[in-house]
Amino acid sequence: MSQKIEIFDTTLRDGEQVPGCQLSTDEKVVIARKLEQLGVDVIEAGFPISSPGDFLSVVEISKAVNTGVCALTRSKKEDIDVAAEALHHAKRGRIHTGIGSSDIHIKHKFNSTREKVLEQAVWAVSYAKAKGVEVEFFAEDAGRADLEFLAQLVEAVIKAGADVVNVPDTTGYCLPHLYGKRIQYLFENVKNINKAIISVHCHNDLGMATANTIAGLMNGARQAEVTINGIGERAGNTSLEEVAMVLKTHKDLNLHTNIKSEMLYELSTLVSDMMRMPVQPNKAIVGANAFAHSSGIHQDGFLKNSENYEIINPADVGVPSSSIILTARSGRAALKHRLELLGYQPNKSELDQLYGNFLVLADEKKTIVDEDLMFLVSNTPILVTQK
Ligand code: KIV
Ligand code: ZN
Repeated sequence: MSQKIEIFDTTLRDGEQVPGCQLSTDEKVVIARKLEQLGVDVIEAGFPISSPGDFLSVVEISKAVNTGVCALTRSKKEDIDVAAEALHHAKRGRIHTGIGSSDIHIKHKFNSTREKVLEQAVWAVSYAKAKGVEVEFFAEDAGRADLEFLAQLVEAVIKAGADVVNVPDTTGYCLPHLYGKRIQYLFENVKNINKAIISVHCHNDLGMATANTIAGLMNGARQAEVTINGIGERAGNTSLEEVAMVLKTHKDLNLHTNIKSEMLYELSTLVSDMMRMPVQPNKAIVGANAFAHSSGIHQDGFLKNSENYEIINPADVGVPSSSIILTARSGRAALKHRLELLGYQPNKSELDQLYGNFLVLADEKKTIVDEDLMFLVSNTPILVTQK
């Protein structure tokens, strides 16, 4: 029986921390409404104490959507008070409070000790819980924390009332099998672990964010923290579209989300446009080249049967169609296909002659578009058969 993975979207908090990507409250509300339609379970709407703008965004998003709304805090009284106030209108409010859990953070960020950090964490969770909202605890830099201490911390915050415990790989340090083992260790060593949902929040510094997230889910985590297009601090966060499509493609994992995958491309474009942050062309799922085929061998195989080279139907993620890009690496099959779309039906010798001219032009122009093909047809000294 397939188990549900909660999708916690932090595009508007961790994603919006990207320099130059700040959004107005109105823009955030537009994105939040779309995220709700997409099917995310919780929207992390901001860090209310950080600025009046972030406070207002949490207030307005709380009014605008029915899905869960989350506000980030440090484990400080004033942060938690302000977050609770900002979440007043939320139908399902959540405070996301936490503190560093690795010795590096404990010593070099807080100049503190494990004992004091544990005490502060327990206090923050109890204090947030008394506000009558859901409480998620983050053990910052859990990817580098001492495992025994991490297990102690997780047990203590669950005892204090945490509904969800986030085990972030804040610095994107972990390898997938080791991150998976961390989650497994917690399930084996934290007595009360089944009283909370374990959440995975991975950064992409080594390009492992999605792999680590999936490893965490395969080892028992039931919430994934993600952003649209994988935007976020430094090299970014785990991308929502990748996690949703990994779980949809690998049904054998027996995990599913409520994401309406046909909306993924629309959301990607919306976030990219509003944040003025282009999506890299080779980005999985939503990049301009994700369903584009340009080499002759691939084009030929794709035209025979799209499953030869596509594991996802583009319509499943809202991309209108796959595309065949004509370059000097393309073969006759792709050229013929494109000519047919333009209304020509070249026979073998017509195609041979056109193909020779096509290669010369493609070497010069890199990419051949329909206008170039029309030019080639009109300049071929044969009459190309038309439909
Ligand atoms: O990466 C991280 O550890 C975070 C926490 C604030 C959850 O973003
Ligand atoms: Zn983060």
